Amino acid sequence: MKPVKVGICGLGTVGSGTLKVLTRNADEIARRAGRRIEIGAIATRRINPAIDTNGIQITQDIFAVARDPEIDIVVELIGGYDTARELVLLAIENGKHVVTANKAMIAVHGNEIFAAAQAKGVMVAFEASVAGGIPIIKAIREGLAANQINWLAGIINGTGNFIMTEMRDKGRAFADVLQEAQALGYAEADPTFDVEGIDAAHKLTILASIAYGIPLQFDKSYTEGISKITPEDVKYAEELGYRIKHLGISRRTAKGIELRVHPTLIPKSALLANVNGVMNAILISGDAVGQTLYYGPGAGAEPTASAVVADLMDVVRTLTADPENRVPHLAFQPSALSDLPILNVEETVSGYYLRMQAVERPGVLAHVTRILGEKGINIEAIIQQETKEAQVPVIMLTQRVEERMMNEALREIEALPDILGEVVRIRVDHLAD
Ligand code: HSE
Repeated sequence: MKPVKVGICGLGTVGSGTLKVLTRNADEIARRAGRRIEIGAIATRRINPAIDTNGIQITQDIFAVARDPEIDIVVELIGGYDTARELVLLAIENGKHVVTANKAMIAVHGNEIFAAAQAKGVMVAFEASVAGGIPIIKAIREGLAANQINWLAGIINGTGNFIMTEMRDKGRAFADVLQEAQALGYAEADPTFDVEGIDAAHKLTILASIAYGIPLQFDKSYTEGISKITPEDVKYAEELGYRIKHLGISRRTAKGIELRVHPTLIPKSALLANVNGVMNAILISGDAVGQTLYYGPGAGAEPTASAVVADLMDVVRTLTADPENRVPHLAFQPSALSDLPILNVEETVSGYYLRMQAVERPGVLAHVTRILGEKGINIEAIIQQETKEAQVPVIMLTQRVEERMMNEALREIEALPDILGEVVRIRVDHLAD
């Protein structure tokens, strides 16, 4: 059968990894896909002579690849929002299938892109956009298709997890670890996307859509980063039997869908608490299967290329299939997407870790516990170390409560004259059904 021709746009970390895997495993890939996959064009803005392209001409015009009549599938690996969107829409307009690793573009422009692809009868495959080499899109969209998904929680940013792990294990400084993650090719072009949770929110948005069959709604996700986590909080969490992880959490509730990324205390014994370094993991609870866990490298050249190439093979296998009978982009038939609302973070429910600086005086704790009690907030544990100082840190763990009630309680606690400064608040999740 005639080989399928792909055009690679973007030759950075993932692009060069894709080139390598496609070349090295060409025979094995053809045995699996049923046809050879050949690279017909490569386009990149910055030509790097150190990358061996096997004699394939490189152009600087990515849009020429999307118009090239010889190309069947365009692989978008340039990243970013707008140019990538333009490129993908042009490829679709020209009747080409698309494979992308771009979570930002899918999370923000995915609804428009999938509608265009649907109208044209082409596929847009995006496995590499979430958790690098872990086949999580395929697992949810196909492997778990029998289930009603109840919730999912994931470590879906390798850079953030690498930073949290190094800070905890080696006491390294935040900036130093971030620099290493950048040198290793894990971090985003703008590393604030990693540490402030934006990258994780892009990925969570995609996961929630295919889990519940809802349109992509990145603008409604709640995002909180790890840059304010202090070594003290890491230490107190350990004392209480927890570990702090930067999690993306999405839960189906009676009122709607929770969609939130924030540092979270989880029990030390939880499998997710033991996912270290740049590794990613996603825990999913389905009504039929129960909990399943997916673990692996979430970033880097060849792990991400592994997902890009698998998508290429999926597209190749279905080239001759009737578009109506392909796996839908967002797992559910486009006409069957639901309008379940995304909840405001104030409507979500969590346990809380609180750390406050209190004046060492009788009755201060009584005031704090009275306020919590009045809001219906149950305290699970308190740590207050013996001190000869005039001030003392007080650490509390609470049971699950609606965030609105916690916010009201914190406003009153922070107004107490004997509580100094802001109360540190980190959500707690036991990852139980
Ligand atoms: N910057 C991302 C991460 C790369 O650190 O996980 C993969 O999306």
